[in-house]
Amino acid sequence: MDKELLSILKEANPDKKISLFNDFYRDYKAKDIDLSYKFEVVEFDKPSYASVCKIVPPQDVPRRSNLTTKDGQIILLHAIMHIEYSAIDLAIDAVYRFRDLPKQYYDDWLEVADDEVRHFLMLRELIQELGADYGDVEVHDALFEASQKTQTLIERMAVVPRYLEANGLDATPLILKKLKKLPKNEMIDKIIDRLNIILEEEIDHVKKGDIWFNYACKKNDMKKSSIYFEIIDRYYPQGFSRARSINTEARKEAGFSCVELNKMAHKDIC
Ligand SMILES: [Fe+2]
Ligand SMILES: [Fe+2]
Repeated sequence: MDKELLSILKEANPDKKISLFNDFYRDYKAKDIDLSYKFEVVEFDKPSYASVCKIVPPQDVPRRSNLTTKDGQIILLHAIMHIEYSAIDLAIDAVYRFRDLPKQYYDDWLEVADDEVRHFLMLRELIQELGADYGDVEVHDALFEASQKTQTLIERMAVVPRYLEANGLDATPLILKKLKKLPKNEMIDKIIDRLNIILEEEIDHVKKGDIWFNYACKKNDMKKSSIYFEIIDRYYPQGFSRARSINTEARKEAGFSCVELNKMAHKDIC
């Protein structure tokens, strides 16, 4: 199935990528697909959206300023939908790249990819209502870079679901809080509704990451509690260097231990 996965990953056009994925996932669930891998893993040198979005350094990505304006809403929606779009590729890449794992692993990450497609489309609908579309705002490729750096299962699971997606569990409530303070507006209400759905569903992605991170730790005979912080320190030296807002409840649900959470928060929160 690697040939099909590779063509979905490489597809630059969002509509085509989603339609290729939907066809593949339908056949996968119907057990209508050859599950074996036949070719060597390919490395990518640029993200699939490189021809759709202008990629700039993270500090140059437009900041959302005034969320009561159409432009502010477009910038916010685009930033989140870009994360969702990158997450589609990351979930499919986890299926494509890491082989000889239990079938449940592939079921899990294809289910995540399917969620990310839905999240992307949910936000795309709103940005289109505002007269814009994916590709209209400059983006960074930090998620793609994270996937490039992590070429083993243990590192990938630690960094992508268990660090980056978990950070989203902390960040989304802060965005929601800001949005809820704004004067009543139909578009803002729609954004709030959709971000609430995404936040709820992302807990499951982090949880799946936790399950497969545990699996990789056991397989490599490594201690979960120390290896996680070791990996994050390696790639994100500032990652947990100072105290910040932690979504204790969501992270606990997703498998983080109190020892880990207290260490991240630099105080007892759990
Ligand atoms: Fe998502
Ligand atoms: Fe996700």
